Amino acid sequence: MRRPFIAGNWKMNTTRATAAALAEGVAKGADALDGVDLAVCPPSCYLETVGRAIAGSKVALGAQNMYHQPDGAFTGELGAAMLRDLGCKYVILGHSERRHIFGETDELINKKAHAALAAGLTPIVCLGELLAEREAGKTMTIIKKQVDGSLAGLSPDQIAGIVIAYEPVWAIGTGKVATPQQAEEVHSALRKIVEDRYNGSIANSLRIQYGGSVKPENAAELLDRPDIDGALVGGASLKAEHFLGIAEKAVKLGVEKL
Ligand code: 13P
Repeated sequence: MRRPFIAGNWKMNTTRATAAALAEGVAKGADALDGVDLAVCPPSCYLETVGRAIAGSKVALGAQNMYHQPDGAFTGELGAAMLRDLGCKYVILGHSERRHIFGETDELINKKAHAALAAGLTPIVCLGELLAEREAGKTMTIIKKQVDGSLAGLSPDQIAGIVIAYEPVWAIGTGKVATPQQAEEVHSALRKIVEDRYNGSIANSLRIQYGGSVKPENAAELLDRPDIDGALVGGASLKAEHFLGIAEKAVKLGVEKL
């Protein structure tokens, strides 16, 4: 069974004070929510503050990025064990902003995925096409290439335990949400790629989140689709009531899938 999973990617958008207040608000509201997994991913410098604010709650901690080397001369980077030390359960890898602003390749993301898993972190691996790629009819070619590259060499158990986030780049921070049909089409095709590469039972245990302008108002129709197992939320995760509003939709739908 796939339990819905709603995660907030706060990006570079909080101060220490707003991060602590937001985390407290989310943790408090999460008390009333059963049947959904929740995580918040603050800026790295506030992981400890946020970890303290959500301690003992139903909300897990995630990081927005990491480096694949465990230690060494890598100025400015953080390794998986450091994130574990800070209490992280999840790490977002290959977010479109990492791919397109910082030039991360599938090869690098793959190294990070292996390192995260080896350290006991659950990677949330992000994939998604650019608008020009969608318009050129290349969406699935791009997605397949990203799956093949960024998830290369993962064992069946590892694949079943990771999270994939499908985030069409044109829908991120634009208010332009993919229609539930557009999203479902990619999610089910993604699951099929995993089924072909591994098997049906692994494909059925893999959670695939949708990300891109998810809000309380559009969450239900997305989460109601058979292959959409949750959401990776940017802008709307910066207000506790909006983030919780999205999580409530998942709870109301009662969607433990397959
Ligand atoms: P928005 O929800 O702001 O579109 O961002 C989505 C995202 O990038 C989550 O990782």
